[in-house]
Amino acid sequence: MIRIQNLTKYYGKRLAVDDISFNVEKGEIVAFLGPNAAGKTTTMRMITGYLMPTGGDVWIAGHNMASHSLEGRRLIGYMPEIVPLYTDMTTRSYLDFVARLRGLDKKRTKIRIDEVVEICHLEDYIDVILGKLSKGFRQRVGLAQAIIHDPGVLILDEPTIGIDPIQVAQTRGLIKELGKDRTILLSTHILPEVSMICERVIIIHEGRIVAGDRIENLTTILKGGNRIRLKVQGPAEKVTTRLARIDCIQAVAYEKPFHLVEFPADQEPQAEITQAMVQSSWTLLSMEPVKMSLEEIFLQLTAEEETGS
Ligand SMILES: Nc1ncnc2c1ncn2[C@@H]1O[C@H](COP(=O)(O)OP(=O)(O)OP(=O)(O)O)[C@@H](O)[C@H]1O
Ligand SMILES: [Mg+2]
Repeated sequence: MIRIQNLTKYYGKRLAVDDISFNVEKGEIVAFLGPNAAGKTTTMRMITGYLMPTGGDVWIAGHNMASHSLEGRRLIGYMPEIVPLYTDMTTRSYLDFVARLRGLDKKRTKIRIDEVVEICHLEDYIDVILGKLSKGFRQRVGLAQAIIHDPGVLILDEPTIGIDPIQVAQTRGLIKELGKDRTILLSTHILPEVSMICERVIIIHEGRIVAGDRIENLTTILKGGNRIRLKVQGPAEKVTTRLARIDCIQAVAYEKPFHLVEFPADQEPQAEITQAMVQSSWTLLSMEPVKMSLEEIFLQLTAEEETGS
C-alpha cells in the first residue's frame, strides 16, 4: 500500500533522510520509531506529498507521489506533528473547511463531520473555538481532520504526544480501531505504545533504517542477541566463573537470584550448561530464554550505529 524506494532528503547540505526503502502492506499498522532528529517527520512529509524528496520514490496504492500526487493524496490522511489549526474557527467550521478542501460535497461533509466527531469523541467540543481547546483535544481534532475523507492510508506523526494518560489510552484504542480496515504508519518515541498498537516496527536512526521487522523477530537480528536466565543452587561467584568457561558463552552476569548468560544467535548452550552444573554438583532450578525488551533493542540499535559511523 505504501512503497518507498531509495528515498533521500537533503536540507541544504544536511542529509536528513539517507536512501531509505520500505513497504507497508495493506491493513498493517507499522510503527516508525527513532530518536529525535532521526528523520521521521521528514519521511512522513515526503510520503504525504508535502515535501519534495531530493531523490527516490513513494507510491501510494500504486500511484507515484511525484507524477500522480493528486490520486495518491486522496487516499492519505495525514496528522502532522504540529496540527495547523485555525484558532478562531470552531471544531465544526474547521472540519467543514478541511472536508471541502478534500473535495467532499456538502451532503457528504455533513455526514462525515458527524461520523468523525463520534469516532474522535469530540461531541462536547463541536462548537468550541479551536484556540480554546486543550492540547489533547487539539490532537483529536488533528486526527479527525486526517480521517474526514475516509482515507485508506493514515500517516500519523506522534499522535499521542503531550496528552494525558487517560486520553492516550483512548487515542491508542482509537488508532487500533481505525487500523482494522486501514493501513497506518505512525511515528512515536514511546516504546510501550509500539507493542500496544503495532504489529511491525521500522527503526530509523540518523536518516537510515536500522531495523524493520515484526517486534518478536527483532531480537534475532541483533548481534549476540540471545540470552538465557538461570537459577542455580550453588555459590554465585563460582557458578559465574564456571558458566564463563563454556565456549560459546560471551558474557555472564549475576542478578540475584539469577545468572544471565549471553551467547551468539546460532548457538545452543543449554546442554553444556546443564552438564557443567551437574558436574559441579549444583542444582539447576530453572533455565529460560530471555527476550530483549523493545527498549533494549532500540537502545542497542541506535548505539551500534553511533559507534559504527
Ligand atoms: N525545514 C528544515 N530545514 C532544515 N533542516 C531540517 C528541517 N526539518 C528538519 N530538519 C533536520 O532534518 C533532520 C531530521 O528531522 P526530522 O524532523 O525529520 O526528525 P524527527 O525524527 O521527526 O525528529 P523528532 O523526533 O524530534 O520529531 C534533523 O537534523 C533536523 O534538524
Ligand atoms: Mg518529528
